[in-house]
Parts: sequence; C-alpha cells; structure tokens
Amino acid sequence: MNWHTTDLPDLLRQIQHALHAAPADAANPLRTAAFITAPDSHPAARTVVLRRADTDTRQLFFYTDTRSAKLRELAQNPAVAWLFHHPGEQMQIRAEGTAALHPADDFARAAWAATPPLNRLNYCATLPPGTPVDNPDAGLPAAWRHREPTREETETGWANFAVVVTTLTRLDWLLLRPQGTRRACFQWDGTAWSAHWLVP
Ligand SMILES: Cc1cc2nc3c(=O)[nH]c(=O)nc-3n(C[C@H](O)[C@H](O)[C@H](O)COP(=O)(O)O)c2cc1C
Repeated sequence: MNWHTTDLPDLLRQIQHALHAAPADAANPLRTAAFITAPDSHPAARTVVLRRADTDTRQLFFYTDTRSAKLRELAQNPAVAWLFHHPGEQMQIRAEGTAALHPADDFARAAWAATPPLNRLNYCATLPPGTPVDNPDAGLPAAWRHREPTREETETGWANFAVVVTTLTRLDWLLLRPQGTRRACFQWDGTAWSAHWLVP
C-alpha cells in the first residue's frame, strides 16, 4: 500500500482496495471495526467483523443477530458510522453512511451456508442478545452444554441471522506520521466521490 501518494483518486482506490481485501484475511486489523449507531440521544458503538466491502456499490457488510439492539437502533435512525484502525500502519478510516437490513436472499443464504458451526452458535441463543441472566451463559440450548451441536442442529440460527449493509457517503482517512500526518476526505455527491485534503 502506498499511503504516501499525493493523488487523491489514487488514495481513494487504495482505501477501497484495503477495505475490499480485509475480510479475506483474519489477521488484517481492518477486518474488525467499530460500528456506530445513533438512535435518539443515545450513540452506541460495538465491534463487528467486516464480511464484505464492495467498491462499486460503496457497500460494507457485516452479519448480526436479528434480535440485537443495533437493529432496533437502525430502525430509529439508519445513519451510521464505521471506525477502522490499522495500528501497524498508524492509519484510521472513518466511514459514514446509511445502513439497512439486507434481505434474506441468495446472498444471505450463501453467507449462512459458509458460516462454520462454531460461528453459527452466535445466532443460536434461545433468548435475544442483551437479555439479563443470573450467571455468565451464552444462552445456548441446554443440550449443547456438554457436546458440540451438529451442523444440522445449528440450522436453528438461520432464523436469527441477518446481514446488515451500509452504503457509504463519506470517508475520512488519516495517516499518523511524526514527519507529517495526512488527512483526506471523500464525499459521495450522488454520482461520484469528491475529494479534499484536510488539516489533520
Ligand atoms: C472481535 C469481535 C467481533 C465481533 N463481531 C460481531 C459481528 O460481526 N456482528 C455482531 O453482531 N456482533 C459482533 N460482536 C459482538 C458485538 O460487539 C456486540 O457485543 C453485540 O453484537 C451486541 O451489540 P448490540 O447490543 O449493540 O446490538 C463482536 C465482538 C467482538 C469482540
């Protein structure tokens, strides 16, 4: 990655490429990000795994439980932010856009089919995420406490599996360097990205 380019369109391509490549690399710090919702006077942040980033459609995808608080928050206000930090590169990407629940279509089905049984457990809790419990407990069916469920058994999670898609309208990029920090922003104007350098 040549983060030192002085060409803004080139920089945008590099940012898009970095996000596009991250989901396939479990060690890539850009594969996990903070996803921020802003329902009425109550901003909320949580870590999510970036599952797909499409340059052409400006879309970022993550998976979640349909019963989770973030989806209720999105229904109140679909405006969201993502925060990416790459410690090795000392690089930050702030992304803003509008999020929506992706339909349970072929894409979602393929995503579910590719989700290994252990990851599927995240969607198999019998009570919704955030339900108070007396003891630390994942909320999985009691029968699974002493053995791993079969792949077939984890199919119950499909009912709770959701893909959330964010369509981006703004990117704010920062590269921290002792000899000269750089910052640039990219704004979607409806047909194209406009780009500017900013004082960091
Ligand atoms: C490393 C890491 C990755 C996570 N990835 C996801 C994810 O992809 N989707 C998700 O819904 N929650 C994920 N979580 C859990 C969320 O951070 C959060 O605790 C959970 O989704 C409940 O959030 P909510 O109550 O705001 O909806 C992850 C947590 C960690 C620590």
